[in-house]
Amino acid sequence: MTTTTVPSDLDQWLRAHHDEALHELFEFLRIPSVSARTEHRADCRAAAQWLADKLSASGFSTTLEETPGHPIVLAEWRGAGKEAPTLLVYGHYDVQPAEPLELWTSPAFEPEVRDGRIYARGSVDDKGQLYLHVKALQAHLAVRGTLPVNVIVLAEGEEEVGSVNLEEFLEKNRERLACNGVVISDSTMFAPGTPSILSSLRGLAYVQIDVRGSTSDLHSGMYGGAVVNPAMALARILSTLHDDNGRVAIDGFYDRVLEWPAAVRTQMQSLPFNEEHFREEVGAPALGGERGYTVLEQLWTRPTCEVNGLLSGYTGEGAKTVLPAVSMAKVSFRLVPDQDPKVVEQLVAAHVARVAPPGVTVTVTALHGGRPWRSELGGPLHDAGVAALHAAFGTPPVITGEGGSIPVVGDFERILGAPVLLMGFGLPGENAHAPDEWISEENYRQGMRAAATLLDCYASASAT
Ligand code: BES
Ligand code: ZN
Repeated sequence: MTTTTVPSDLDQWLRAHHDEALHELFEFLRIPSVSARTEHRADCRAAAQWLADKLSASGFSTTLEETPGHPIVLAEWRGAGKEAPTLLVYGHYDVQPAEPLELWTSPAFEPEVRDGRIYARGSVDDKGQLYLHVKALQAHLAVRGTLPVNVIVLAEGEEEVGSVNLEEFLEKNRERLACNGVVISDSTMFAPGTPSILSSLRGLAYVQIDVRGSTSDLHSGMYGGAVVNPAMALARILSTLHDDNGRVAIDGFYDRVLEWPAAVRTQMQSLPFNEEHFREEVGAPALGGERGYTVLEQLWTRPTCEVNGLLSGYTGEGAKTVLPAVSMAKVSFRLVPDQDPKVVEQLVAAHVARVAPPGVTVTVTALHGGRPWRSELGGPLHDAGVAALHAAFGTPPVITGEGGSIPVVGDFERILGAPVLLMGFGLPGENAHAPDEWISEENYRQGMRAAATLLDCYASASAT
């Protein structure tokens, strides 16, 4: 494969249509497609329909596929013929809730460009990164009237709530979705100007722990001392989840954790990463976590246990003397290969049952999970990704890991038997899932160029 520059016909089209690409992304971002909230159900459908219309107008045959939750947008272009490879582009049109709204500098669903950044909920996660592929496909079809490979676009509306219906959809549509590779842009680059290919994702096991004591809240003076306090019981349970070295203290938790390949660790260690800058960026007084690992190793290669939310008793203004009847914690575990979310859920439930103090009823409910993933880093799709990113950014990509999860990545490999290329265009500090989420306008532009070039590179890498 020799492509080292972005093909000039595509580059010109993308340059001429940059304002349109921005304008359209803004339209997409204005639709508050928050998958977690039932009041946004219609908005999720509207976002799916908006995207489907754009793909149809570009020349794809497009359908909205119904699921028990939000619809899946499925678009197909098979004009390259049976001999040519098929590339599946995956992304998600749903977004995280925008709250707390008051912390946004400009409203979450009124996109605004400031200092070269496009601010809006979903700008980087994942509407911007999904739509840059759509513009890249449009560029090919507009300029050349064809694509060099067959393409399927699959955009789901439930990624942010655990892709609950996607696995079944992939199973049921195995033949229709048959492809040679999957490309996903839903991740970050290591640094500005440093294109990156992600080699691993953590998995997830997410549980809710509910503790119940008395049948209703009680006077803390009349009853406190004799009746077990569910808030204190929960605190005791949570305090058993880690040991003093920051390791997860659940029996069997590390049994299936694999060593990282030496080559990948060497790559990781060669990345310029300043832990003090990282600390300053998050604004914490000190860093913590599992002892004996660098920050990048902690984030990319080690499993964790985190409390995501806690609820109990009186939390309003002033003091109220009350003994709460219930307490609740949302607890998530980030997993690494080869941990299995179902097994981890069982280990957690057994641990909690063992350490729960008497006098309260404790239940553990599994909310959702996803398998961890690690890539083989080779083959035509990976090579095409390297070449396309090199062409677009003028420098070859680095290989990174990731602490977040995209549960469906493992499913694509397992169910469709296709390798996955993760080339993301977010940046550190992009505020995904937080107020003031942004994507760099420059990366949106470079992402379109890389995505357009990828198709040519993939066609030629597959042919050799
Ligand atoms: N795009 C993110 C995951 C991500 C973030 C990958 C940064 C790579 C770099 C994705 O939308 C996300 O947030 N996933 C959830 C998954 C969960 C809801 C099952 C996550 O990681 O919390
Ligand atoms: Zn995402």
